[in-house]
Amino acid sequence: PLPPPFQVPLPVPSVLKPVGTAGGIDRYEITQRETTAEILPGTRTPLWTYDGTFPGPTIESRRGRPVTVRHRNELPVPTVVHLHGGRTPAASDGYPTDLVLPKAWPGGAHGMHMSGMPSMHDPRAAETRLVRDYTFPLDQRPTLLWYHDHRMDFTAPAIWRGLAGLHIVRDDAEDALGLPAGDRELPLMITDRAFGAGGRLRYPALDPSLRERPGVQEPYLAGVLGDVILVNGAPWPVHEVDAARYRLRVLNASNARHYDLEAVTDDGRRLDLVQVGADQGLLAAPVVHRSLPIAPAERYDLVIDFARVPVGGRVRVVNRLGSGRTRDVMAFRVARKARDGSRVPRVLSSDVPVWRRSEAVRVRDFSFRAGRMDGGHGWLIGGRAFDPARTDVTVRLGDVEVWRLVADVHHPVHLHLVGFRVLSRDGGPPLPHDAGLKDTVSLRPGEAVEIITRFDGYRGRYLFHCHNAEHEDMGMMANLEVV
Ligand code: C2O
Ligand code: CU
Repeated sequence: PLPPPFQVPLPVPSVLKPVGTAGGIDRYEITQRETTAEILPGTRTPLWTYDGTFPGPTIESRRGRPVTVRHRNELPVPTVVHLHGGRTPAASDGYPTDLVLPKAWPGGAHGMHMSGMPSMHDPRAAETRLVRDYTFPLDQRPTLLWYHDHRMDFTAPAIWRGLAGLHIVRDDAEDALGLPAGDRELPLMITDRAFGAGGRLRYPALDPSLRERPGVQEPYLAGVLGDVILVNGAPWPVHEVDAARYRLRVLNASNARHYDLEAVTDDGRRLDLVQVGADQGLLAAPVVHRSLPIAPAERYDLVIDFARVPVGGRVRVVNRLGSGRTRDVMAFRVARKARDGSRVPRVLSSDVPVWRRSEAVRVRDFSFRAGRMDGGHGWLIGGRAFDPARTDVTVRLGDVEVWRLVADVHHPVHLHLVGFRVLSRDGGPPLPHDAGLKDTVSLRPGEAVEIITRFDGYRGRYLFHCHNAEHEDMGMMANLEVV
């Protein structure tokens, strides 16, 4: 029995406390474990979680202040943690074969470092048993990052079961802007899920144990969609707000679903969505949208002014691409008049990188298309399925490059390590929602999108891939070696 929309209160994930702060480094510990939670009223849904909750606990960090997170794996399968959008040394970037093995797992020997997983043929794969320390320097522009599972072949079902959490980076310059803060800043992790008997999550995995055989059943090769929209893990929630500006940190953490979001009042007015930030931090100046498309893994930093709604009124967040129940996302109820000292300055940031085409030392082309892989259906980059033993692209640290990405169907393309700017769409200018520094860009069907970036930060082996999580698991990922 699905709850009626806009009844369940919006949860806000709790902020994780460090277990220590020695030498200017904040140390955290997270245990990955199975649990159950009441998502649909009156049922308990089995989940895989970071520290017992979905979403996992939020980590709050300051720019340039390093963090280590010790992940303990008490799940029945290996896991990998990736901090999406983090500028992270390769050893902590969560390469898909850098596994944290569970207690009982065949193929591992004794001790901390092992190799020779039956299905892993990458000689460079690193494995540790039960515990792994990830180090994040966070020497990067403040923004909303998220951490999620990234295990080879099994990322999509692991995220679906609950392995996703938020990580917010801040700095003094952003704090000084006067954007809405405290209770008036809300992270919104949007996901879709399908539920079966007794509140169980439904996912069409070929091997529901997620131990051996990857992949999904035939009708789901394009991606797995659910008919229940969750925000911060709650179905179609509602949140009471003051008649004031709010800052919404929106993440689409769905495996495959795209949204086109708008905020509509009961009398049918659309509220302005004032975008102040993109995947990789603040825009130079705000951009006003009436609706905003968001692909898997994209983030938008938005300000909405609820003072434009009468007290007692309601604002529904609607997905214009949805139908029936998937049109609704969540609602805000404007509960009371209130003072509002917040502002949205005309100038938000002066350090959004701009790279000129003439700076690029190279232009590369990549196609993102369906194809054959291991005798079955796959999703390919440049005609090839992911192979951890093959280097697909070698870039020199410090080089500026233009990448031209072409798609058959919708593919949200994500690069690890760097942020990029969108240069063009189908030869024309970028769209309003392409503004700012991004780490994920939505390629629409048949479209060619050019991006430009400087590969700086760290040397080592990174990835780029489609963030439709099912496409990613079915081959649409490639190695990017920074030398
Ligand atoms: Cu959000 Cu390679 O991932
Ligand atoms: Cu894709």
